[in-house]
Amino acid sequence: MERGFFITLEGTDGVGKTTQIGLLKEFLEDKGYTVYVTREPGGTPISEKLREILLDKSNSEMTDVTEMMIYAASRAQLVAERIEPALRQGEIVICDRFVDSSVAYQGYGRGLGDRVRSVNAYATNGLEPDVTFFLDLNPKEGRARIGKEVQDRLEQEKLDFFYRVYDGYLDLCQKYPERMVRIDASRSIEEIQKNMRDVLSERMKGLQ
Ligand code: TYD
Repeated sequence: MERGFFITLEGTDGVGKTTQIGLLKEFLEDKGYTVYVTREPGGTPISEKLREILLDKSNSEMTDVTEMMIYAASRAQLVAERIEPALRQGEIVICDRFVDSSVAYQGYGRGLGDRVRSVNAYATNGLEPDVTFFLDLNPKEGRARIGKEVQDRLEQEKLDFFYRVYDGYLDLCQKYPERMVRIDASRSIEEIQKNMRDVLSERMKGLQ
């Protein structure tokens, strides 16, 4: 059976990835594809435990390197246990965040730089998405959408952290113009979804 297709969604906090993923799943299933949706950090029992450690507000002593390695560990498990097997079965995998999140948040946001990429290449066994949607929204607007109540450890960061992350994503879009598709996320849910569906229809030609 042919290898499947791997889609990831990226962006700073509060850009509305989850809503868009639900709609994309519907669109692709209507076309007859089997779609596996997952999220990072998480997606397997081990990875969900690692997620709790990462997002726990009381873990204020966590070093930047520890944080980066736990994200990578969670990802290694998800790739081996779920993503690779699904792709081998010819399924479409949609992942809410992937390596680009670590490069943007830990590499640019925390300042760990290029090491993030090499650690993650090892963790993922070199797996890369076929297409990555970067939902582009000014970090200030994203924060306003999240609201105060739902803040986890990462969301507590100051706005300048999110601007570094955001700049990291813009750099990634320049570096990987083929893979990364920038989507203006300040528009309506319907407009954003249409934009993504058009891109996929174009890129997935010949997959069926
Ligand atoms: P989550 O609640 O899933 O946020 P969102 O809905 O915005 O995706 O929390 C994930 C948080 O972890 C988010 O603030 C981004 C951050 N993160 C990293 O810093 N590095 C990573 O590699 C990943 C996957 C996420």
